Amino acid sequence: MLGAAAAVGAAGLAGGFLWRHRARQGEPVARTDLPLPPDPAFPNPLRMPGAEGMFGVADAAGALTIVAKGIEHPLLPGKPARVLAYEMEQQGRTLHNPVLRVRSGAALRIKFWNALAETSIIHWHGLKVDSNNDGHPHYAVAGGATYDYQFTVANRAATYWYHPHPHYLTGKQLYHGLAGFFIVEDDEEISLQKALDLKFGETDIPLVLQDRRFDQNGQLVFAPTESDRFHGHYGAEVLVNLTQRPHYHAATRAYRFRILNGSNARLYRLAFRHGEHLLDYTVIGTDGGLIDRPRTVKEAFLAPGERMDVLLDLRNAARGDAVTLVSLPFDALHMEMAGATSVRDGHDEHAAHSREGARAATPDGTELDLLRIRVQRKIAYDRPVPQVLSRIDPPAESPYSPRLIVLDQANGKWRINGATYDMAATPITVRRDTVETWDIRNVPPTMPHPMHIHGFQFRVLSRTGSPEQQLRLSIESGGLAATDLGWKDTVLVWPGETVRIVTDFSHPFLGDQVYMVHCHNLEHEDGGMMLNLKVTA
Ligand code: C2O
Ligand code: CU
Ligand code: CU
Repeated sequence: MLGAAAAVGAAGLAGGFLWRHRARQGEPVARTDLPLPPDPAFPNPLRMPGAEGMFGVADAAGALTIVAKGIEHPLLPGKPARVLAYEMEQQGRTLHNPVLRVRSGAALRIKFWNALAETSIIHWHGLKVDSNNDGHPHYAVAGGATYDYQFTVANRAATYWYHPHPHYLTGKQLYHGLAGFFIVEDDEEISLQKALDLKFGETDIPLVLQDRRFDQNGQLVFAPTESDRFHGHYGAEVLVNLTQRPHYHAATRAYRFRILNGSNARLYRLAFRHGEHLLDYTVIGTDGGLIDRPRTVKEAFLAPGERMDVLLDLRNAARGDAVTLVSLPFDALHMEMAGATSVRDGHDEHAAHSREGARAATPDGTELDLLRIRVQRKIAYDRPVPQVLSRIDPPAESPYSPRLIVLDQANGKWRINGATYDMAATPITVRRDTVETWDIRNVPPTMPHPMHIHGFQFRVLSRTGSPEQQLRLSIESGGLAATDLGWKDTVLVWPGETVRIVTDFSHPFLGDQVYMVHCHNLEHEDGGMMLNLKVTA
């Protein structure tokens, strides 16, 4: 029944709510939430943010303590696994990897207690804080030690996140479980929630995508080979909210998914599939919050570190309909081996890597089913998507010519402007309160690099030299895709591409501040594809 409807591609109706059907006369709108038969392909209920346990939701305002420690958690059903998690207690409840929720402008005092056997530090990905509070690897503390953060949330509403950032260990610690959402809200955000009748943890759902390898006992395997260290550590299967092959039972209404790519290295080409058809969905936000107005798409790339805020409209679905969040196949454009040519089929292309030891991994670019959404209940829902989501200033203009940031490799090491990470060096220095345009150029033989800046949000101005699979997603001048719009802190740069961004390095912090610029492929980052970025007073 949905097939015909899903094929309808008309644009602009009701704010991108495009999943139109032939009217089904006489169908009752009353609740009919009978149980659905089990779906063996997606047997496990999606882990959701709740009152306690994994992804428990916490109000982050005021003072709190977060402990990084080892816990037991059944990643695969019935197989308790040893994982790492951020633990916090609030009002007698124990939360793991808490979803920290806070109002813009709130004052936070967070004590980080490192109960790991190695150094660690928490980085608040996307937040505008001073270097003392950024979680730069320079501030990593030894096992048993603590670190005190104290800052005011200057950011606008968005889905940010937090994760470890000790040098050489970020990939390993994040892989073993350390990561959480940091959700900022403001008036604009609250009015969107009201307009769409969204409830966090019910119809406004954060999703973190992470690919992992397991041994026979359901334990996580992180054993990067030389090849993995160079290309990235890819998993055998993808967990969504740490759930293997998850399903979610939905009603006939709009759902908001705040999707975070929390994988070490894997890119996703995200789409919602119903049978043979790809459904339209609506992008409402990116890394730094709501975009100006909704954009309807059928697919989008999401690279490690990036977030995408989308609406999926199920109001015209029938009970029993199933929609699958998938990653469509794509050319992973791993052109990093000198002389190697990328082939269209990701499988073949990756076979070469596999020979070096990554046999357990599913190749980057492989088609993947991530989450099955099953329509269980019919309800009445009639909320249009607001046509204006946010008032976003046009990008600032820089009086200077663009600074060139070259991504390349030498001797098996990924480099930024010819350098690898040196904790003591500050190869990029910017004056506080200046606006800079950067041309980030990814020079073959290379692979995709999601580039991230700490401490600031930037705007993407243009993509040039884009591969076809990116180019066809461009919906704005400059070759921008929906996921390039609005405020960004991480941007994917494909091989051969030059991505122009503009950053206003204004902030209220006195004295020199040292942030960083790095690739968010965590093996690249840990391998040194990272530079200090100094903002001088
Ligand atoms: Cu999410 Cu420096 O990174
Ligand atoms: Cu960051
Ligand atoms: Cu990279």
